Amino acid sequence: MASDKPTFHGGDLSWACRKFGVAKSDFIDLSTGISPWTYPCDAIPEAVFRQLPYNSQQLVDTAAAYYGCANHEIIISPGSQYAIEHMPQLSQNRKVALPYWGYQEHRRAWLKSGHRIFSYRSLEHLLAICNSEKIANVVVINPNNPSAVQLNNAALRQIETLLIQQFNHRYLLVIDEAFKDCQAECSYFLSKLGPGCVVLRSLGKFFGLAGIRLGFVLCSEPIKARFSGYFGLWLVNGPALFIAERALRDKPWIALQHSRIHQNMAQWGQWLTRHLPQYKHRSMGLFHSVFGEANSLEILYTTLARNTLLARYIQQEGFAYLRFGLPGEHYARCADLIEEATHELF
Ligand SMILES: Cc1ncc(COP(=O)(O)O)c(C=O)c1O
Repeated sequence: MASDKPTFHGGDLSWACRKFGVAKSDFIDLSTGISPWTYPCDAIPEAVFRQLPYNSQQLVDTAAAYYGCANHEIIISPGSQYAIEHMPQLSQNRKVALPYWGYQEHRRAWLKSGHRIFSYRSLEHLLAICNSEKIANVVVINPNNPSAVQLNNAALRQIETLLIQQFNHRYLLVIDEAFKDCQAECSYFLSKLGPGCVVLRSLGKFFGLAGIRLGFVLCSEPIKARFSGYFGLWLVNGPALFIAERALRDKPWIALQHSRIHQNMAQWGQWLTRHLPQYKHRSMGLFHSVFGEANSLEILYTTLARNTLLARYIQQEGFAYLRFGLPGEHYARCADLIEEATHELF
């Protein structure tokens, strides 16, 4: 199967302008799960641009305090995407279990490295195939993008216990927590059981900083020792290191961000559920996903995009998700555009 083909993602406004004939400045872009409120990046000292970006112990310590782990369990990464691309290099078994719906870069990376992929649709399905197929590598996207489904720590522990029973320490449980900041429950990493657990975190989503490309890998020391070889000198730029450190310890801003995201999503999720009752709905902090039959959702997506509201349409085998990011200050306009489209179509 082809594996090098770039995956299509949300947020590609140049592509959307060409496809739907809309000017960039007219689009309201809800096609990503990036917060509409960005951590302020002003007043960066000139030296931060001039000096070589050696790994910052201060940032590691700040991140350890924010994520609640020890500072020797952290690798700084240029976005969690970079870690996803290199993750298969850590595996010692040629099989991997991936969620049927989920951020496609995981699938692309494992396919590229020649792994055999097993797609799972539920926790029970995952446990069954791990048992029968002897799969030592498992990826959980938690919460999942686009389905917004989230496994609790007890479920994750069940998966890891099974992997440990079957493979001792020679397994990999990758938990992609790129969207986890919005959830009240703590990261799985804090209750980790075994040495093969790797948690990915991102500054792109909750902090609205996707452009600076910064994330973290939280893992045991043996995995860190093996993985660090892929994180070469000066890989993350100085301004990104500087901003990340400031953002992760800015408790008042973090509290403000939680409350406005929560408020905006509560309102937005309820509104979408009321106005698109023919579909299934699920929200997590930074996006609301509408699930149903692919054709009608594609028509809705296209109609909205032509009318300047860009959502993200993801389909597989006749079913689809239409995912809406947070509208922020564009709430009223977005609601009007969806109302107009649904009157026209349904
Ligand atoms: C579930 C998930 N994980 C990871 C990423 C990569 O994010 P970043 O590289 O910005 O940390 C994305 C990007 O959309 C994502 O949706």
